[in-house]
Amino acid sequence: MSDTTFTPRVFSGIQPSGDLHLGNYLGALKRFAEMQDTGTSETVYCMVDLHAITVWQDPAALRHSTRELCAGFIASGIDPEKSILINQSQVPEHAQLAWVLNCVARVGWMNRMTQFKDKAGKNAEKASLGLYAYPSLMAADILIYHATHVPVGEDQKQHLELTRDIATKFNHDYGVDFFPITEPVIEGTATRVMSLRDGSKKMSKSDPSDMSRINMSDDADTIAKKIRKAKTDPEPLPDSVEGLADRPEARNLVNIYAALANMTDEQVIAEYAGRQFGAFKPALADLAVAHMEPITTEMARLMDDTTEIDRILTQGAERARAITAPILRQTYDIIGMVPPVA
Ligand code: AMP
Ligand code: TRP
Repeated sequence: MSDTTFTPRVFSGIQPSGDLHLGNYLGALKRFAEMQDTGTSETVYCMVDLHAITVWQDPAALRHSTRELCAGFIASGIDPEKSILINQSQVPEHAQLAWVLNCVARVGWMNRMTQFKDKAGKNAEKASLGLYAYPSLMAADILIYHATHVPVGEDQKQHLELTRDIATKFNHDYGVDFFPITEPVIEGTATRVMSLRDGSKKMSKSDPSDMSRINMSDDADTIAKKIRKAKTDPEPLPDSVEGLADRPEARNLVNIYAALANMTDEQVIAEYAGRQFGAFKPALADLAVAHMEPITTEMARLMDDTTEIDRILTQGAERARAITAPILRQTYDIIGMVPPVA
């Protein structure tokens, strides 16, 4: 185990590849803002545009999504003065460290990544090399900041274990204590928000049914309609959390309510035990609209004039590089790259 103490630093990233949804908000953005506001560590949040191109992106759409994601971060409470807010491609050390880590990670490790298998599907031969190497770029995103804590949803757990393996192998191979062994932060009631149409599937931007998710661009009526039509079972809400165990749709709606209201599942059940969905769904719809509407309005306002967003990203990159450039330089020194003369 490492005996070096690393300064606490939080890093996380989201891909700018399409609409943000309630799963991204509750599982990621809302928690990012909370971690920023505790003020206990520096926070760095990233639009991972280089990750997005591991599958085809239309260039104009990618530019739009990156700016919209930046608007989503800010509207969710990320303050560009308090946190470092960046898009990955403006901080070149991410990609530079990723190459080094490609030479540390083993092919056997990459072969075990379930997200690659899911995304590449049956046609793995035709997937991009970038999609396969995706997790080592993610490890570089984290390690180029010596980040100690990474808040993510449940689906990213395997990639964070890989990041720890890569850091451990690097430290071991070079006999150093240079990269921290990063802690995943997977907590809260909404680390896995499920589809509104099928409680066994994750809410996802790639689901063909728009009714399966609440988009951060949905207006109040749409949000209310989607919740009203969400799949449920005919039973009333149980009087204990255990009663939700075999009721994935009911559990999902309770989780969403709890996360939006900053309550625990137990508190929600205590309030709604024995009530029918006919009563619970309108309450949830009101809560979701009240919570999300100011965020979507602010996103739209920020997207009206993107020069401000571009300025924020430029400044973010400058602040980020003050951290990443020296860490890359030290990495190169450790592995034996000849430096430029002063
Ligand atoms: P992605 O949209 O897959 O790039 O995910 C961005 C962030 O949102 C990651 O931290 C994910 O773990 C999180 N996330 C995505 N979908 C969900 C979901 N359905 N529930 C909770 N978190 C999610
Ligand atoms: N792979 C993450 C996702 O799809 C996004 C991501 C890229 C990330 N780099 C990261 C998340 C670094 C946390 C830390 O959601």
